[in-house]
Amino acid sequence: VKIAVLGTGAVGGALGFRWAQQGHEVFFGSRTPESADIVDLVKRSGPTAQAGTCAEAVTDAAVVLLAIPWEVTRDVLSSVGNLDGKILLDCINPLTADLKDLQFGFTDSAAEKLASWFPSAIVVKAFNTLSAATMQNAVYGDQNASMFYCADNAEAKAVVKQLTEELGFDPVDCGPLRISRHLEALAMLYVHLAIFEGWGGDCAFKMLKR
Ligand SMILES: NC(=O)c1ccc[n+]([C@@H]2O[C@H](COP(=O)([O-])OP(=O)(O)OC[C@H]3O[C@@H](n4cnc5c(N)ncnc54)[C@H](OP(=O)(O)O)[C@@H]3O)[C@@H](O)[C@H]2O)c1
Repeated sequence: VKIAVLGTGAVGGALGFRWAQQGHEVFFGSRTPESADIVDLVKRSGPTAQAGTCAEAVTDAAVVLLAIPWEVTRDVLSSVGNLDGKILLDCINPLTADLKDLQFGFTDSAAEKLASWFPSAIVVKAFNTLSAATMQNAVYGDQNASMFYCADNAEAKAVVKQLTEELGFDPVDCGPLRISRHLEALAMLYVHLAIFEGWGGDCAFKMLKR
């Protein structure tokens, strides 16, 4: 799969590196693609990785991972050219600056806003309920972290499910895109536990069934 990874921070660095290691063509989109850190990230990721501007990364991509802050996402996506038919893999949590609340919820979500702003793209909410540490390593003892995802397009969901399983996660299909408002709230609980209740980033949600 040709994957554009927009943003080279904790999330973009973790998922982009791992997908490149799986042999996917990963194109990191960055404001500073020639900086030493990003040259190093590309080198570590292997021969199927490269870096450039966000627009260059998106051009040939089938999947576009949004690993950038919510506040800049609309502007960044408006500047990268044609998004027709591309899967926008949205792991964004629109938190307030103090990390204590969501900026909106209950009746809306970042994912639903993106879908309304960029109707020719296919938004899949995914990976937002996981920490960057868990994105690096999905394994907890003899269990694998659950990865909750939702979207309105079955084919796009199948692509994301495969990309999830390849990294060792246990995918949980949560239904249509409107459920992203609940996934963003679940991420809010995670942030509260990790930061304010002392759990840290080496913990993850697991969906159990019997
Ligand atoms: N960290 C987590 O555990 C976690 C978990 C789940 C979801 N998320 C979500 O994932 C997203 C990324 O989080 P992160 O922790 O990876 O953040 P981060 O470490 O701060 O990285 C964000 C990256 O976005 C790019 N960026 C920053 N400001 C930008 C701007 N003004 N315009 C364009 N690009 C900009 C930067 O890449 P360049 O410098 O290369 O341009 C930066 O490295 C957020 O929306 C967050 O809600 C994070």
